[in-house]
Order: sequence, then C-alpha cells, then structure tokens
Amino acid sequence: MSEAGYRIAVLPGDGTGPEVVRAGLRVLDALAEGGPAPWRTAEYPGGAMYYRDHGREWEPESEAAARAADAVLLGAVGWPGVSLPNGDIAGAGLVFGLRFGLDLFANVRPCRLYPGVRHRVGGLWKEVWTPDQVDLVIIRENTEGLYAPIHGALSRGGSTELAVDTRVITRKGSERVIRHAFELARRRARGAPEDGAKRVTCVDKANVLRGCQFFREVFDEVGAGYPEVERESTYVDAFTQSLVRDPAHYDVVVTTNMFGDIVTDLAAVLQGGMGFAAGGNIGSDHAMFEPVHGSSPKHAGKNETNPFATFFAIEMMLRWLGEKHADARLGVQADRLERAVARVLAAGSARTYDQGGTTSTSGAADRVAAELRDGERR
Ligand code: IPM
Ligand code: MN
Repeated sequence: MSEAGYRIAVLPGDGTGPEVVRAGLRVLDALAEGGPAPWRTAEYPGGAMYYRDHGREWEPESEAAARAADAVLLGAVGWPGVSLPNGDIAGAGLVFGLRFGLDLFANVRPCRLYPGVRHRVGGLWKEVWTPDQVDLVIIRENTEGLYAPIHGALSRGGSTELAVDTRVITRKGSERVIRHAFELARRRARGAPEDGAKRVTCVDKANVLRGCQFFREVFDEVGAGYPEVERESTYVDAFTQSLVRDPAHYDVVVTTNMFGDIVTDLAAVLQGGMGFAAGGNIGSDHAMFEPVHGSSPKHAGKNETNPFATFFAIEMMLRWLGEKHADARLGVQADRLERAVARVLAAGSARTYDQGGTTSTSGAADRVAAELRDGERR
C-alpha cells in the first residue's frame, strides 16, 4: 500500500456499467465517512463506446494504471453492433486484457440467497428455495479452456468454411484453480447448507472429453491433500439439473472456463438473478472485481439497474485486499458493508425493477449509504 492507501482502478465501461459503478463508489464513500479511507479510487474510460469514438478499446496509460493498481473494479463492457475488425466484441479487450494479462486464474462467483431477496425459480416470486438453502461458490477457471486465444477460421474465396476454437487444459491451469477451491472450502465456516460438510464438487464432462478427464485427474490429486474436505465429481449436464433441484448440497464448485461461464448464469437465478451476481477474478498478485450482469443495453441510461451485484463485488474486493495485505481494517469495512447490505435487503426497502420494486440504482445506493451511516447505531 502506498501512503495514500490502496489504489483501486475503476473501469466503468459501457451501458449500465457506469451507473452501477457510480452507485458502488457512493457506497465506498459512505464506508469511508468518519475516518481516512485506506483506499483511493481513480477512474479510467474504456469499452465499446470508447472504441467507437477513439478507435481503441482503452488507452495504454489506462491499462498500465489498471495493471499497477492494488485492485480493479470493473462495471461492464460491450455494446450491440460495436465490434473489432476481427469480429470480437469491442470492450472485451478490457476484461480479457486483465484476465489473461494479469493471469487472474480463478473466477470466484459466490451464489448466496439473502433474506428479503426474491427469486423466480418457481415463477414470479414464489418461494421455492429459502436463504438457508442457497450458499455456494462456483470457481471458474479463467485463463484457458475454450477461452484460450487459440482460434481460427478458414476462408476460401471470401467465405468462411470452417471455424475452430481449441480447448486448452493444462496441469498448471487446473492445479492452481482447483487448489484455490479447496483452500476456500477449508476456510468457509458453514460448509454445504444440506449437511454442513466442507465439500468441493468438480463439474466436468469426463465421460467424453479428454481435457475433462485430465481436469478430474488433477482434481483428485490436489483434493487428496485436503482430507477434511469432501470431494465429488459430476458431469456438467447432470449438474445443471442437480443445482436447481438440490442447491443445498453444494458448498464449493470448481469447473473449466466455458462450463463455468454457463453454470454461473444458471446459479444466479437461485440468488435472485444477475442483479446479485458478483465475481472476483483472482490471481496471485492481482485481482479484478465485477458485477457479472454485463452492460445490459436495454436498461442503460435509465438508472434502474440493480446495483447490489456491484456492492457485493466491492465487498469481495475489500476482503481480498485485507487478506492479501494482512490489513484488518479492510476486513472490518467488508463486514460493515455486508451487514448494511443484508439489512437493506432483509427490509425489502431497496427493490429494483428486477425484484418487482421501483427503487432506482442511485436510490438503492442511497439506502445502503444511509444504512452504513445510521444502521449501526440502532
Ligand atoms: C462473464 C461474461 C464474459 C465471459 C463476456 C462478457 C466476455 O459473460 O464474465 O461471464 O464470457 O467470460
Ligand atoms: Mn458470462
């Protein structure tokens, strides 16, 4: 940490990204009231809109600042119809630039249903799962798999005839993300809601894919070093059923990149929707935190997007910074934020449209900020 505090590089990005980031910064400011904050934030533009206007996704200085920062907070990137000459969506360079460039190998996505949050598993607001049944963390490998930049297309006579995406599974990539999962399972206080067991579930397709057989092999090797943690493996197709039917069984789940992308969106339904889904992209030295929902063009500019995913991303960021630097102040702030958020959610007093409410993005931030200020005195 420099004298002025941990440096947080903020990348608002596109669409609803800047709106939820603004809400998040409002809450960070409220956390810091009453004492000098052990962090300072600096914002950098970038994304699809930036590409449209400037011909590049972000400035080299912004990228350098994000790389040099102690942590990165990202809003969302991407906009319909804005793509790079090679067809990639514009703005994804920020996400992948950081995931690959900073080697952020574990994408950690908690899935917890808070009291007062409603989900749509059984139709509109019918309570199927209760908060005591949904508390798992999915860890997605973040630097290889189908996202490895080994792609290609064959064009003949101006038309594409064939396209290939190569799925890369390495020992190094598997080992470190699996270890991350077991370390987390070991630390988690409550274990699986169903039976309190510390459990890591490997989600793969080892009945078909060689890479998955290898991933599962490494899973068993690494897992053997954690006798106090139960381990099990399941095929990804069966897992999608089981997750919805029996979420309380799961504690920590680890999987490869593309499967992780898919099953974390599915899991988000259990926690009330994408409006609550936050992710931490964690490496050994760097980390980037983000709401998972993306730039949601349909809702952009309306101040209506659910900012709680961003609040949870900030909570994760503070916790990670505190642990990395053995700085208890950050953990205390993360706890304060979580308590304030939990109280606001339980009261049902800041429901955005996706929860059937009318609270705005900034209104929800005001509620949490007020709770931080006053709630602790009650
Ligand atoms: C996510 C997103 C990204 C991904 C997109 C925006 C590139 O869907 O973080 O889950 O596919 O990883
Ligand atoms: Mn995704």
